[in-house]
Amino acid sequence: MSNINQVNREAAAKAEAEARNIYTVEHPVRPEDHWQRTGHRGGVLWLTGLSGAGKSTVALGVEHTLHRLGYQAFVLDGDNVRAGLNSDLGFSPEDRHENLRRIAEVAALFAQSGSLVVTAFISPYQADRDQARAIIGEGFHEVHVHAGLDVCEARDPKGLYKRARAGLIPNFTGISAPFEAPANPDLIIDTSKYDIGESIHATIDHIETHFTLNQSLVRVA
Ligand code: ADX
Repeated sequence: MSNINQVNREAAAKAEAEARNIYTVEHPVRPEDHWQRTGHRGGVLWLTGLSGAGKSTVALGVEHTLHRLGYQAFVLDGDNVRAGLNSDLGFSPEDRHENLRRIAEVAALFAQSGSLVVTAFISPYQADRDQARAIIGEGFHEVHVHAGLDVCEARDPKGLYKRARAGLIPNFTGISAPFEAPANPDLIIDTSKYDIGESIHATIDHIETHFTLNQSLVRVA
């Protein structure tokens, strides 16, 4: 999304809030001030993919590596967020939409505070990922953590595919609910070809290219 669209969107949100007697405040510390301190931009790597594709594993590995390298980074993970903030939501298209809308708003706040956020949500609908891009604006990167359904089902780390095939989990992504692969992702991590170390390395490379301010500060061993 261009800066001008982002500015327009923020102005519209502000006007809409004021119609409800809500007056937002300006932070004295700007995102750029956080960047200067950390040496990197804030932003969101929005991981999308089937259950079992490896989103959480990649996200947590990336968070760990970034932490070691001195970055400010944090993972927002589907199961964790659904255990707390979004415990009122299920898996209908409407509930997934609301799940991802709230996550995008939270991720935008983290990014504004200078963090690199790695989100790990199936986020199966392109419209919901587009909405996240609109909410987060510049600094949103869509990352397809890809493995075919056959691979994910063979891995079945939580036994959910087995339960879904038995008809015990309704609306299960890949079985009884759709997954719309991103048409134009910023990065594809194919975990059926890359092992976990390679997947983390490729993601860190992408982050260095797009978010690190002084390239010479950071090199992954
Ligand atoms: S999303 O579609 O709204 O993005 P999210 O990533 O938050 O989904 O949650 C997915 C996790 O919820 C899966 O990793 C799995 O453990 C669990 N889960 C439970 N029921 C379902 C279902 N019907 N479809 C997909 N995942 C489910």
